[in-house]
Amino acid sequence: MNEYTDKIQEIASRWQNKRGSLIMILHDLQEEFGYIERKAALEVARITRIPLAKIYEVVTFYHYFKLSPPAKYVISVCKGTACYLKGACRVAGEIKKILGVEEGAPTPDGLFMLRTVRCLGCCGLAPVVDINGRIFSRVDVKNIRDIIAEYRRKR
Ligand code: FES
Repeated sequence: MNEYTDKIQEIASRWQNKRGSLIMILHDLQEEFGYIERKAALEVARITRIPLAKIYEVVTFYHYFKLSPPAKYVISVCKGTACYLKGACRVAGEIKKILGVEEGAPTPDGLFMLRTVRCLGCCGLAPVVDINGRIFSRVDVKNIRDIIAEYRRKR
């Protein structure tokens, strides 16, 4: 097991044996990862023993669910306790200012989307920002500007 499958397991067990559990699992997955990727759907099928076809039936029926990343770069600001105490809200506010969009909305060029996540498991490095799986530690309102500029140059 790795951190990714652990997280899916945690979400699945949160809703196990509850009415409407599949929708709630998918909802929490999307909250956590920004969209429902195939490997997440496969993992949910394995854990819950719900057929993959049934999972896709639900995911494709509701427009709320996304099957692909909503932007090229998903910027996840951790607002778990350690990051929160070390200024994660100021960092998130600065990112909103830089991107000119609210949380959960992609930038008009489709390059970035900001979202909030709970603990990323590296609290000693707080505040932490994750961009497509790359972790940036001890982020502040000054260096986040350079980090985003670096991704803009990559486009
Ligand atoms: S609280 Fe942010 S990494 Fe743990």
